[in-house]
Amino acid sequence: MLTDHPASLSLQLDPIKVLVTGAAGQIAYSLLYSIANGDVFGKDQPIILVLLDIPPMLPVLDGVVMELQDCALPLLREVIPTDKVEVGFKDLDAAILVGSMPRKEGMERKDLLKANVAIFKTQGAALDKYAKKTVKVLVVGNPANTNCLIAAKSAPSIPKENFSCLTRLDHNRARSQVAMRVGVPSDCVKDVVIWGNHSSTQYPDVHHAKVQMQGKEVPVFDAVKDDAWLKGDFITTVQQRGAAVIKARKLSSAMSAAKAICDHMRDIWFGTPEGEFISMGIYSSGNSYGVPDDLIFSFPLTIKNKTWKIVDGLEINDFSRGKMDATAAELVEERDTAISFLSV
Ligand code: NAD
Ligand code: LMR
Repeated sequence: MLTDHPASLSLQLDPIKVLVTGAAGQIAYSLLYSIANGDVFGKDQPIILVLLDIPPMLPVLDGVVMELQDCALPLLREVIPTDKVEVGFKDLDAAILVGSMPRKEGMERKDLLKANVAIFKTQGAALDKYAKKTVKVLVVGNPANTNCLIAAKSAPSIPKENFSCLTRLDHNRARSQVAMRVGVPSDCVKDVVIWGNHSSTQYPDVHHAKVQMQGKEVPVFDAVKDDAWLKGDFITTVQQRGAAVIKARKLSSAMSAAKAICDHMRDIWFGTPEGEFISMGIYSSGNSYGVPDDLIFSFPLTIKNKTWKIVDGLEINDFSRGKMDATAAELVEERDTAISFLSV
């Protein structure tokens, strides 16, 4: 007699529909397995994976679909490869918007604005038309903050709070740099903040960060004991890390970007760890840190019940204020340039 297999017992939730755009690209190749394996939305959550790319990439996408099938992952109920937005954006629970052009050596991310921002206008409109109003949208394609803002503006029927952009990679980079410096595992460093733009003006701020060492929590400045490094090379290393990876690999980061996407979306779905905050680019209106309204700006956040809350009350000294203002000014300029390209 057949008995229920433990795996099928865990398949009782309704499947959720998750879109990854740029699905034939290099980030997607590092990302799709983790999503389909339950590492993001939960080990008991069946998934319908929608894979969007442009028409010339459909043959490559076929190969990705074959590989996903060949993984024999029990949570993966269906894979839908497509080049059509009306198929790709239909009834989505989550959308991870990666598809766009990456920068090459010597470029700033904002140099991609002209090539990429139109994609996010089209895809914002498609979210508005076809996706669930509860859809959670993560924008990864660069320049991620401004693309996210354009997508959100192009989807007026979806709450702006549902849109976020990826600065978790910068957050993880900052955490890891401090951990390596102190000689502790990366999870012993918490509460770093990435303020602002996912660009070379971003401000990785460790004034509120702590290191777990010798059985107690120590402020990062006390643990590192090198203020000049924390206010100098540490910041530029994190700001320039994407460019350093491109210089070395001749391709932009993919494995670490995929890991950060998983961290970001998992925290949206299940909440941030108790007593800890993370960084995410979110809609700035109404914040308490004097950041201009109507930007997608990276803040320290906690998340509960799929709802984020900015961590208020962190003390901002003059050093931090200057850096936060500089990255905000860049975002204002990017927003205005994007709008002039698109007339959104
Ligand atoms: P890639 O070139 O390997 O893949 C991009 C894919 O997007 C390609 O398959 C391409 O055909 C597809 N694409 C292009 N236009 C599309 C459209 N309109 N709809 C659907 N798909 C489309 O690039 P990648 O390395 O995967 O990087 C993708 C993007 O992510 C780049 O813009 C890169 O700069 C950005 N990125 C952001 C972060 C971050 O932390 N925010 C980190 C790494 C990379
Ligand atoms: C990164 O930070 O690695 C990505 O945004 C890719 C890039 O262009 O730097």
